[in-house]
Amino acid sequence: MKGRKGIPSSAGDSQQPLVDVEVIAAGIAHEVRNPLNALQINLSILEQELSEQIPDKSSHVFEVVRKIANELRSLDNFVTEFLRYARPPRLKLEPVAVRPLLTDLATFIGPECAKKGVALSVTGEGGPGTVPADGFQLKHAILNLVLNALQSTPAGGSISIESKGEAGRLEIAVRDTGEGIAPDLLGRVFDAFFTTREGGTGLGLPIARRIVEGHGGRLEVASRPGEGTTATLSLWVRPEP
Ligand SMILES: Nc1ncnc2c1ncn2[C@@H]1O[C@H](COP(=O)(O)OP(=O)(O)OP(=O)(O)O)[C@@H](O)[C@H]1O
Ligand SMILES: [Mg+2]
Repeated sequence: MKGRKGIPSSAGDSQQPLVDVEVIAAGIAHEVRNPLNALQINLSILEQELSEQIPDKSSHVFEVVRKIANELRSLDNFVTEFLRYARPPRLKLEPVAVRPLLTDLATFIGPECAKKGVALSVTGEGGPGTVPADGFQLKHAILNLVLNALQSTPAGGSISIESKGEAGRLEIAVRDTGEGIAPDLLGRVFDAFFTTREGGTGLGLPIARRIVEGHGGRLEVASRPGEGTTATLSLWVRPEP
């Protein structure tokens, strides 16, 4: 039992031994991913050959090909996310400047927020300017939090990415004014494959937590239904006393 605030230890806890899931991941990588890639390549060859023989691009056959391609893409996304979850991240630690990482992220996801009519802001005061981290993995973890916020926040709402902390500790909070999470579901959001979203995989938060804990940090989620959700990530720059 790790005693994380509001999140009971459970079968989906990221501290479970990983041996079995890693073996499954190796099998999936080999037995599913390779044929899946071959299917995608063959489908695009088929599409090309069909378009040489059928000039009418609105023909039903192209719609069928597009549907198959979409299904293959979502299967490929699922496999990619599952492998990311199942294989513990190998971290390449280097000094990472916090503010540029957050503004980069906001530049990347900003257009999607704007399209939905959700305001996105980055604020920061205090805390270390640089942390020893794997910048790519850390960005991926925070991106998962921002994506969750965006998916749960209707037009007119807002998302803020706030960084703060004192000298030896960095805290990054992703706060949204979205639908929130019902109290009886809050304890399950870090369980692998727990999702309430149509088309969701339920791996975004478990992956984010694994990355943050790989850095020796903590990730927690607090929420008020109807008011919004805050995901808070804490990293220690020096070992805890
Ligand atoms: N900011 C948020 N606001 C409301 N609900 C949230 C938020 N973040 C997470 N949740 C809830 O936690 C669940 C799990 O989140 P998680 O990111 O692990 O998976 P997902 O978003 O459903 O799928 P994906 O694998 O595509 O990320 C969500 O389905 C949703 O019910
Ligand atoms: Mg998610």
